[in-house]
Amino acid sequence: RNGVAVAPSVLACDFGHLADEIAAIEAAGATVLHLDIMDGHFVPNLSIGVPVVQAIRRLTDLPLDVHLMLDNPADYVEPFRKAGADNLTVHAEVLPDPRPLLDRIRSLGATAGLSINPPTPVEVLEPVIEAADLVLIMSVMPGFGGQAFDPVALDKLRWLSDHPRCEAVLEVDGGVNEETIAACAKAGAELLVAGTAVFGAEDYAERMAELARLAEA
Ligand code: DX5
Ligand code: ZN
Repeated sequence: RNGVAVAPSVLACDFGHLADEIAAIEAAGATVLHLDIMDGHFVPNLSIGVPVVQAIRRLTDLPLDVHLMLDNPADYVEPFRKAGADNLTVHAEVLPDPRPLLDRIRSLGATAGLSINPPTPVEVLEPVIEAADLVLIMSVMPGFGGQAFDPVALDKLRWLSDHPRCEAVLEVDGGVNEETIAACAKAGAELLVAGTAVFGAEDYAERMAELARLAEA
């Protein structure tokens, strides 16, 4: 497996100063940005859409990891790819067979991620484990930043780490902070999404470094 990376979740930034926040998080050592897209149906909240992703694309060259929390992701992969997404992650809960959409994301030139929520058993990934470039294990019910980490994610990460046919990048999202990040990395997570843990810090660089140190230990 490769090294670990902390992916700041822009959802937790100050949107009134978006350009400054992107510059600051990049200066703090971020190597990827996680963008949360919510539709008010799949999750009980709304966030940002295509124009804001486009704006972020113009502000940075960092890879954009776009997490689609949508009932109908198939309608949106193309617009978000055009807006500058490098990875597009869709949810297994709304896709009886995720393979065609994962293939389509790849054909658009992005990497394809598949995510499951805490109540969804990891075994649903078994038939499509080779079709995803990335698997995103949710450690909270998606919709809001700042929730408590659900350790059910750790068993799922271990299951994927031990799976002989899983070559996907393993990502974890929700409640990742100084207390929980080491366990996530130990269970096999390589991409560690952190929203409030990063943007809630006084000094972004210091917190990014601390999280990376805990993940690498
Ligand atoms: C949850 C989102 C997360 C969220 C994480 O709905 O998918 O990416 O921003 O926020 P924290 O790190 O604060 O739990
Ligand atoms: Zn997310």
